[in-house]
Amino acid sequence: MKEKNILAILGSPHTDGTTAAMLDCAVRQAEKAGYSVTKVNLYEKNIAFCRGCEVCYKTQNCVINDDMREITALWRECHTIILAAPVYWANVPAPVKNMFDRLLGTAMEKTKTFPNPRLKGRNYIILTSCHTPAPFSWIFGQSRGAIRSMDEFFKTAGMKPIGKIVCAGAAKKKELPKQTIKKIERCIKKYIDQNHSKNIKTVIK
Ligand SMILES: Cc1cc2nc3c(=O)[nH]c(=O)nc-3n(C[C@H](O)[C@H](O)[C@H](O)COP(=O)(O)O)c2cc1C
Repeated sequence: MKEKNILAILGSPHTDGTTAAMLDCAVRQAEKAGYSVTKVNLYEKNIAFCRGCEVCYKTQNCVINDDMREITALWRECHTIILAAPVYWANVPAPVKNMFDRLLGTAMEKTKTFPNPRLKGRNYIILTSCHTPAPFSWIFGQSRGAIRSMDEFFKTAGMKPIGKIVCAGAAKKKELPKQTIKKIERCIKKYIDQNHSKNIKTVIK
């Protein structure tokens, strides 16, 4: 795992949509601060469905040889994941859910009691957008549902949340609202500051 490596994943079919704009905003900010960002567009990848064989619990690798091999290696190498996915049916789009399924044995070890996380020491940031305006997007579980689904994966994998940002009522907006841009910038700054102070403490020790 490399300290300044970020993996930025786009889980939307629209490269010119709200979710992609949110991801671009976060990536720009991180790159400005000297972080190395690898971008992956899930919709451009060839990723078969998880077969549910559970061999990956033992081998920590999926038996299927497709683009998930490259994506899994990127998950292992990075220090932080920025996952940008729109709300689809109060959940994540199918390719994002399938990526989680295909990462089963990479993310956790099955035990007789609680699962053992395998991606500890890494952080995550969630960016999402939905058609439903706020506060209904939250009250009726739209953005809440998508965030819950992403949180479930990241937390089980032992990863630490840095920020979760929602752009609600997205369909009516031609560009990212200033408020959303500010939230993303604040979140990336918080991450960079945290990382910086952690590095100073390590040097002082
Ligand atoms: C299949 C599908 C399901 C959707 N489900 C929801 C939903 O449950 N709640 C909601 O508020 N918006 C829903 N939307 C709207 C999208 O979340 C919204 O348009 C989002 O901003 C799309 O982001 P993008 O253009 O950046 O990909 C759905 C859109 C699609 C295509």
